[in-house]
Amino acid sequence: MYLKKLDVHGLRNLKGIQLLLSPGANLFYGQNGSGKTSLLEAIHLLGRGRSFRTRTLNPVINQQEDSCTVFGLLEKEGVNFPMGVSRSRQGDFLFKVNGETINNASTLAEMMPLLVLDSESFHLLDGGPKYRRQYVDWGVFHVEHQYRGVWQSFRRALKQRNSLLRRDRIDDAEMSVWDLEFVELAERINGFREAYLKELIPKIQWVMSELSNIEGLEFKHYAGWDKTKPLAEVLASDRQRDMLAKVTGHGPHRADLSVRSNKQSANDVLSRGQTKILVTAMQIAQGFLFHERTGNQCLYLLDDLPSELDLQHREKVGELLCRLGAQTFITGVFLEDVVSTWPKEETQTNMFHVEHGGITPTEC
Ligand SMILES: Nc1ncnc2c1ncn2[C@@H]1O[C@H](COP(=O)(O)OP(=O)(O)OP(=O)(O)O)[C@@H](O)[C@H]1O
Ligand SMILES: [Mg+2]
Repeated sequence: MYLKKLDVHGLRNLKGIQLLLSPGANLFYGQNGSGKTSLLEAIHLLGRGRSFRTRTLNPVINQQEDSCTVFGLLEKEGVNFPMGVSRSRQGDFLFKVNGETINNASTLAEMMPLLVLDSESFHLLDGGPKYRRQYVDWGVFHVEHQYRGVWQSFRRALKQRNSLLRRDRIDDAEMSVWDLEFVELAERINGFREAYLKELIPKIQWVMSELSNIEGLEFKHYAGWDKTKPLAEVLASDRQRDMLAKVTGHGPHRADLSVRSNKQSANDVLSRGQTKILVTAMQIAQGFLFHERTGNQCLYLLDDLPSELDLQHREKVGELLCRLGAQTFITGVFLEDVVSTWPKEETQTNMFHVEHGGITPTEC
């Protein structure tokens, strides 16, 4: 699966972009502020219906325009799927796949699974548990088709339980009914996550062994409650505390994945470059597992990949991504740094120069 063509109009500083893309590597280089991240943002908008930089989309629309549009032609097993997303300044949103309007962004995500590496990716180690939950859930969502439905039901049960906790008087019988459902869904979510991590963690370890020699790396999943006790018991003993806090303190919405190096928090001991290698490995591992489990490929958006990585690590990252065979978009400021990331003998490589919002194909 890969994006064959991309047209972008009215997005940030990009000027009427039309690109023919390689199924392998697509390398973009250009000065600061030229439009490289904006190009990746355009692909992200097409694949997820939102930006990876801002919560609201108005800043993404070019200041002189009323709307932005991204059109892509996706090839999947020899069949072409046109996809389009447009967003107006007034907030109107339109997603189209194969000529049909679709109503939710998760259909886009299923069509075109994206893995992103950018400056925000450091939050996988230095940010709160929500970043690691999002990371794990990306994988579970893409390999386990029941997951989305179970997760949505769980969100409803959690919302209901929290709204009961906010009442002045709580009806025990009513709460018990919600707790039953909450526990059942929580166990299922945790089961999906544990099964996924059982495969993912050895994959991360394998990718890390190919990339670098950070010693004593350990990953441990925390379900969101003490697993030595049944969740129903935990909820019951937490009841008073939850009533005071007016939120449910334990459950899969509080899960985390601890990442340690030689028994210490990886975030406390790894250098900036080592952190980048580790978060890159975590993304690459997901791509390999996704390919193994589904036979499909995801697309990689790697913003400023060369920065913070020395030549040896850049080459190893490029070599692994090349071995995976996924379509890859790599940006960087300097031509030499971007070129040296990708194996020279690899022929399926397109190179582009980004300058003042224009993008020109160049020779590798
Ligand atoms: N809504 C907008 N309309 C017009 N231009 C915008 C808008 N939002 C941002 N820009 C401009 O778009 C340009 C491209 O930004 P972008 O982040 O894509 O650059 P970049 O090539 O990734 O740079 P860097 O190497 O610094 O990361 C910037 O000069 C920015 O000021
Ligand atoms: Mg940038």
